Amino acid sequence: MSKKFNRTLVTCALPYANGPIHIGHLAGAYIPGDIYVRYLRLRGEDVVFVCGSDEHGVPITIKAREQGVTPQDIVDKYHKIMKDAFSGLGINFDIYSRTSSKVHEEHSSAFFRKLYDEGKFITKTSSQYYDVEAKTFLADRYIEGTCPKCGNPHAYGDQCEKCGSTLSPEELIDPHSRLSGGTLEKRDTTHWYLPLDKYEPWLREWILEDHKEWKSNVYGQCKSWLDNGLQPRAVSRDLDWGVPVPVEGAEGKVLYVWFDAPIGYISNTKELLPESWEKWWKGKDTRLVHFIGKDNIVFHCIVFPSMLKAYGDYILPDNVPSNEFLNLEGDKISTSRNWAVWVNEFEEQFPGQEDVLRYVLCANAPETKDNDFTWKDFQQRNNSELVAIFGNFVNRAVVLTQKYFGGVVPQNLKPEPIDSETLAEIVPCKEALEKYIETYHFREALKEAMNIARIGNKYISDAEPWKVAKTDMDRTASILYTCLQICADLAIAFEPFTPFSAEKLRKILRVAIDAGQDHRSGEGAPTENFFKPGEGKAVHTRPFGKMLVVPGIPLLTWNMLGASEILAPGHKLGESELLFQKMEDSVVDAQIARLEAIKKANEAAAKAKEAEEAAKKVEPQKEEVTFDDFGRMDIRTATVLEAERVPKTDKLLKLRIDTGIDERTIVSGIAEFYTPEQMVGKQIVILANLAPRTIRGIESRGMILMARQGDGKMRIVTPEEALHNGATVG
Ligand code: 2FM
Ligand code: ZN
Repeated sequence: MSKKFNRTLVTCALPYANGPIHIGHLAGAYIPGDIYVRYLRLRGEDVVFVCGSDEHGVPITIKAREQGVTPQDIVDKYHKIMKDAFSGLGINFDIYSRTSSKVHEEHSSAFFRKLYDEGKFITKTSSQYYDVEAKTFLADRYIEGTCPKCGNPHAYGDQCEKCGSTLSPEELIDPHSRLSGGTLEKRDTTHWYLPLDKYEPWLREWILEDHKEWKSNVYGQCKSWLDNGLQPRAVSRDLDWGVPVPVEGAEGKVLYVWFDAPIGYISNTKELLPESWEKWWKGKDTRLVHFIGKDNIVFHCIVFPSMLKAYGDYILPDNVPSNEFLNLEGDKISTSRNWAVWVNEFEEQFPGQEDVLRYVLCANAPETKDNDFTWKDFQQRNNSELVAIFGNFVNRAVVLTQKYFGGVVPQNLKPEPIDSETLAEIVPCKEALEKYIETYHFREALKEAMNIARIGNKYISDAEPWKVAKTDMDRTASILYTCLQICADLAIAFEPFTPFSAEKLRKILRVAIDAGQDHRSGEGAPTENFFKPGEGKAVHTRPFGKMLVVPGIPLLTWNMLGASEILAPGHKLGESELLFQKMEDSVVDAQIARLEAIKKANEAAAKAKEAEEAAKKVEPQKEEVTFDDFGRMDIRTATVLEAERVPKTDKLLKLRIDTGIDERTIVSGIAEFYTPEQMVGKQIVILANLAPRTIRGIESRGMILMARQGDGKMRIVTPEEALHNGATVG
């Protein structure tokens, strides 16, 4: 770690509290963030890890409206689900708070107020859509209309979810309110804007010159925003859900969610460390790192830094590692289509397998391009990597030690060069692992950790202690001594990636680890007895400032990784148990079947919606006709006397009708919609003076007037009340 920094503040994007966390979220920001924090703590760095729910914004109010509950009900529900899901996966933030907290309201308000007082905002009055019925201005998300790019009739005022285009409400064809369904009118409203254009020269230098080391996807997106030129950005909205704009005369206005949410990182730190938070946000020796998904890049690299710069004395992010998107079984993850693996559901369905998910999401992380999660890959990585390589090696080493040496680390009685050469191979793995984590290449880092297990597997397979034991127990002792050192390496190296299994392994080896200190107890007194190796639930870190060593339990540290002796001879191991379980086909097949059922239901719903749209489609108006043109048509009421199908046709009915002038025959293509029985006795409207035509050998005199909707469905036109036949229409 660079000497420039004495502490690291790590944040993960505050997820919107309008739905549970899915694997895409995890792979994008939370798993990488947690690996990074665990690693820094193992290295003895002082780290604060901050997250929380983003509880403002229009999608939350929309969801509440859809469900007939209050926005508060929605955020209460999802805050809990998300918080539990993170901790269930071992993602242990020092604080997981919420932007509805008192501290946040005060802090974000004060932040706005300072910029306001110092004239850092400009105001602009613009004409925006107003819902007359609901008596409110509408956020872009509340406006619906037809997408000008793909014709989707349900595009939103900010985005078309069908083709992914970013839109403005003005671009929508036939915009209307999602709130009331009613029409909209444009009205003037005034908002505060952060003039991003003024920060552009500074941003160019800070990002494009000083942060060339940022990941290429992040750097590239920033460059393209900057090259396109920045515009002032509104920081307030007309809405009744959010932090009120703390200015007189701003009734009905709240801070824009993307203004208040990133300030949440600061207020959550303040809530955790009320006395020392400023050191974390203003100390030049604090390194600030934001872990985010790619859709958040502009806000974290351009907008929030400009806010911090405008404020004055805050530090800026040193890095903003961002991943691309994770797809699921070849399709974009989508909350609305329920196309996701929800973390809370995974935790219920796969208890004890949290590390498998952590492992797969890291091994397959969308670090440089979008990637795909498949259940078959999940099973394959579990069975052929975690079980067959990592678990198998540990199991062989421990079970053989129990068999031949009563579960005690044997003396290194008869070493051979291959032993030390093998242990020496772990040193470059450690170095590579460090380099990769410190440059945010977590997939590569994980490969290095797995390489240690591969090294162990190859060594034990080549050395064959089960065969050597038949003739040479001294050599067997050295082989297993070496294997157990590698097991201890694994207990260190996997701690950032698969903490539950690393803990389990340490229990098997009967060792503890100095996994660093966290700030979960804030600034309060540290708790005693947190190191309980071999007992109950995994406790990985120690409260700030406290270090407790249990006698007889070796304490591993990161720096021991690759050392020639980590476990001294004579150390008694714990009970052996399997680190990972083989996953049967039936388990993943059930998940695949669940997704297939969802896909089918989605397709059926899409078809039904399409049909509904088609039905509503209205033909454009025909060319103008004159009054005289119309007057030449003799339209009048008539009654069906007899009806029968025209033989060998599906569509035609032959009708005998009373027109009031005469009785005649009309052949009409309505058999798809009416049976002959339904037609007899019906009063209809006909075009009586249409020139006769012969259809299927029958002379048809006139035409029955029918209404036809977009999907082809037809209904006869009939007077509202029965009239005498022959009454003229016009
Ligand atoms: O994309 C999201 O889920 C946002 N709620 C992220 C906010 S990150 C931060 F700025 F708070
Ligand atoms: Zn579109």
